[in-house]
Amino acid sequence: MKLWGGRFRKESDRLVEEFHSSLSFDRRLYRHDIRGSIAHARMLGRTGIISQEEAQKIIDGLRAVLEDIETGKVEFTPDIEDIHSLVEQQLIAKIGAPGKKLHTGRSRNDQVALDVRLYLKEEIENILSLLKRFQETLLDLAGEHTGTVMPGYTHMQRAQPVTFAHHLLAYFEMLQRDRERLQDCYRRVDVMPLGAGALAGTVFPIDREMVARELGFAAISENSLDAVSDRDFAVEFCAAAAMIMMHLSRFGEEIVLWSSAEFGFIEVDDAFATGSSMMPQKKNPDMAELIRGKTGRVYGDLQALLTMLKGLPLAYNKDMQEDKEALFDAVDTVKKCLTIFEPMVRSLRVNQAQMAEAAKGGFTNATDLADYLVNKGMPFREAHEIVGRAVLYCLERGCGLEDLSLQEFRDFSPRISEDVYDAIRIENALGARRVYGGPAPEAVKEAIARARRRLES
Ligand code: ARG
Repeated sequence: MKLWGGRFRKESDRLVEEFHSSLSFDRRLYRHDIRGSIAHARMLGRTGIISQEEAQKIIDGLRAVLEDIETGKVEFTPDIEDIHSLVEQQLIAKIGAPGKKLHTGRSRNDQVALDVRLYLKEEIENILSLLKRFQETLLDLAGEHTGTVMPGYTHMQRAQPVTFAHHLLAYFEMLQRDRERLQDCYRRVDVMPLGAGALAGTVFPIDREMVARELGFAAISENSLDAVSDRDFAVEFCAAAAMIMMHLSRFGEEIVLWSSAEFGFIEVDDAFATGSSMMPQKKNPDMAELIRGKTGRVYGDLQALLTMLKGLPLAYNKDMQEDKEALFDAVDTVKKCLTIFEPMVRSLRVNQAQMAEAAKGGFTNATDLADYLVNKGMPFREAHEIVGRAVLYCLERGCGLEDLSLQEFRDFSPRISEDVYDAIRIENALGARRVYGGPAPEAVKEAIARARRRLES
């Protein structure tokens, strides 16, 4: 049965029914659709647009439909156009005449916008708490590793010593921005569109504020045309989701690198790794790779929404039905990836000795030697040149800067004295980087304390 059969002489082609039905994917909106309809019905009753008894019958009927859906009593067949049609048809089948009044002053165009907004508000809250939990895990792990020295890299070349804790805090910051972005996006999702009707509002004296209040919306939409054509909030969400995935992907890439024999910095717990069907020795960081791979899907979801919307005249166009699969996929993917990533990171085994060893190689203290010379009064550019030559000298001899004799040092610059060895010891070099936001263990401990406070505020 159609909601719009009156004007037609013929049934739809079977292929058409299947092709344009969105039920297979928008069925997940059934709770939101029913919740929205209950609020709409109650408002219709209170404003006297329908009688209070009719409103109550509709509300009871909708609750019964909800129960039927949840207990698997409702069949979702592809001849039904969408979740809105299904709920209304079920309601009418259950309570008869009053059910036919539910759609007074409403269109599926404002209804679908409402449902998607209700759904997305809920999911943003879910994702926010997943992000927060992940941040807590990062802080816990960082707390254990403020003294775990590792090389920091630029261009994937060993650069300067940092700590594992400091590295983890970099991800804390990314996730913090991710949460801020979602919170900001939430404000624009939190707008109630009912009352826009199909595009031009309604003649009935509806009370939009009442509906917004019941459904917990912070605002009502200002313009009926915009209310039914706007999917900006879904685009914004997908952009924020794409960014979350980009962050997870970068972290995933590091987990893949670090768990290789070449790095040997970490070992992924058995529960989060897989083996090879042919090579008995393999233990692969598949989860990190899969998350890196799934990042592309979410970028695709964002691209799909932007492209779907770009040529659309106002107001509703059927193209917009394509918003849902992309949005749902972005929501599902981000939730799944965060759910896996957090315990994978929590259970990482950290090879501190290997990290420290790597930090000692690769001349990660070269900048500290230059800074030492600057402290002895040499201009930095000159110091840079001299240390560069010292590095070359060491490379030819296969040793580190710390292995040079005082005489060798003094051949490079007579300003160097015995205290150079202390200055270029990795632990000291690291400890000296006490600048706000820097990697010195002391600075990182303070950063962790600040981060905990920011997480709670
Ligand atoms: N299934 C539709 C969608 O998801 C609902 C809105 C239908 N409106 C319409 N005029 N055909 O976009």
